[in-house]
Amino acid sequence: MGTDEKTTMGTMKVEHEALKRWVAETAKLTKPDHIVWVDGSEDERRALTEQAVAAGVLIPLNPQKRPGCYLHRSNPNDVARVEHLTFICTPTKEGAGPTNNWMAPDEAYAKMGKLFDGCMKGRTMYVVPYVMGPVGSPYSKVGVEITDSIYVVLNMRIMTRMGAPALSMLGADGEWNRGVHSTLDVNPDRRFICHFPQDNTIWSVGSGYGGNVLLGKKCLALRIGSYLGRHEQWLAEHMLILGVESPEGETTYVAAAFPSACGKTNFAMMIPPKRFDGWKIWTVGDDIAWMRVGPDGRLWAINPEAGYFGVAPGTNTKSNPNAMASVRENTIFTNVALTADGDVWWEGIDGEVPDELTDWQGRPWKKGSSEKAAHPNSRFTAPATNNPVLSKAANDPKGVPISAIIFGGRRATTVPLVMQSFNWTHGVFLGATMGSETTAAATGQVGVVRRDPMAMLPFCGYDMGEYFGHWLAMQKVLPNPPKIFQVNWFRQDANGKFLWPGFGENTRVLKWVIDRAHGRVGAQETLLGWVPKAGHLDLSGLDASTMEKVTQATSINLEEWRKEFELQGELFDKLSATLPQALVLQRQLLMSRL
Ligand code: OXD
Ligand code: MN
Repeated sequence: MGTDEKTTMGTMKVEHEALKRWVAETAKLTKPDHIVWVDGSEDERRALTEQAVAAGVLIPLNPQKRPGCYLHRSNPNDVARVEHLTFICTPTKEGAGPTNNWMAPDEAYAKMGKLFDGCMKGRTMYVVPYVMGPVGSPYSKVGVEITDSIYVVLNMRIMTRMGAPALSMLGADGEWNRGVHSTLDVNPDRRFICHFPQDNTIWSVGSGYGGNVLLGKKCLALRIGSYLGRHEQWLAEHMLILGVESPEGETTYVAAAFPSACGKTNFAMMIPPKRFDGWKIWTVGDDIAWMRVGPDGRLWAINPEAGYFGVAPGTNTKSNPNAMASVRENTIFTNVALTADGDVWWEGIDGEVPDELTDWQGRPWKKGSSEKAAHPNSRFTAPATNNPVLSKAANDPKGVPISAIIFGGRRATTVPLVMQSFNWTHGVFLGATMGSETTAAATGQVGVVRRDPMAMLPFCGYDMGEYFGHWLAMQKVLPNPPKIFQVNWFRQDANGKFLWPGFGENTRVLKWVIDRAHGRVGAQETLLGWVPKAGHLDLSGLDASTMEKVTQATSINLEEWRKEFELQGELFDKLSATLPQALVLQRQLLMSRL
């Protein structure tokens, strides 16, 4: 493509002939009025933001209260990831496995090609080069997202390293992920999110919602990433990464998988309670970890993202003070409520509920209304650099060494507060049998338990049984593996009240995890795994009634476990064609222990 009058290149020079050809082909198909290559500069951000405001895509917030912040309202039919419209288009159905929707690549390209044909007439096509991971890291990957959404461009600018640095990393002949996105007419009947792992390609139409359209995040970093990871012997996981610094200055890094909207962002930014004065938690990432075997035989992780696309409701100065600090400026809010003085509001934010608000759909809202003012899956997109506890290692091209992996779900019963796996294979079994109650992050019923192995069910780009096989195989190339744990912050009493205080108090559990990872404390064997010995979980400073509840939260009920065992079988049956024998054996061992 030349720099004709239709095309704006900013200050960038594109040396990559194949990239230029692909952009030209895509323009030929989508037929935009203008083509803009974004360079990621501050001037460009200002200009695009002005345009977005003029077009009503962004609403400026009160600059005294939220400097540099904007509100976006998405189409009410388009507020969450659409798993039923998300496809893995591997050459065979078996390649995608029984837990993914599959479409044949030819069929998907033809079907979506028709939708893309002329879809950008009257619109601007943005070409967004971006890096997932620190610029220049051998572990990072370059993508280019073509989109007709200015909201996507401005969000990608926060969530990734976007623009000129990505093009220079790509050079003249680097490999890149080809992403094409059009909001089309935001019609759920014409909404598809298709992944072509063998072509390193993602096509997304008909949505403007984050997880469906910020293609670097779930689509590249997890679905395509997991596929690449299997071929290149690394792990792309739905995990936060944090560092725990002791008063002596020793920092231990932990990666943790929780299903969507189960508090990963809170955990990643947690502030230790008073009892842990002198301890610090540093955030490396809040959603995704790319992990490779380092030269020392340990597992090293980078966070491919540069920002947080966090769930707003429930976020406040108690649940997550660092998230509140992160959204103070230069943040894009999506589908939250608006106060009379131009600030944001959501259910669970600090302070009194205002008498009147404008709800997430722009309608007047009154206190006491039965409807929520903010959408339950309303979000903030905030730069990681706003986070007061951002780890100094977050930008380190070699990543951080992981000493412990934690799997967690949202379970009202059955799963105890914390336990450690007997070994790597048993740890993979714990991850593979994870279950969680569903949340608002995806369209569908909320609150039913579904199996969500390693929190990857909606994000694995290939057959899940093979994915477990890949996890097991990693052990052979990982001489110094992290220890594996399972946690459950969400256990409830008979009245539906949480038994564990959660939030910053989770530091207490984390401390035991780290001590175990370093081999510094003993543990007690149970039929499910290793649990803290009496007195080893630091509960000092908690009141007597909380101590009593902790006993309940850590209890193991054999009846519940027999039921759980049956339920686990459903997923294993579904995956039976490719389920590794080692996991079948783990299940038999559990049965015999039960
Ligand atoms: C997310 C999700 O947005 O998991 O991170 O849904
Ligand atoms: Mn997530």
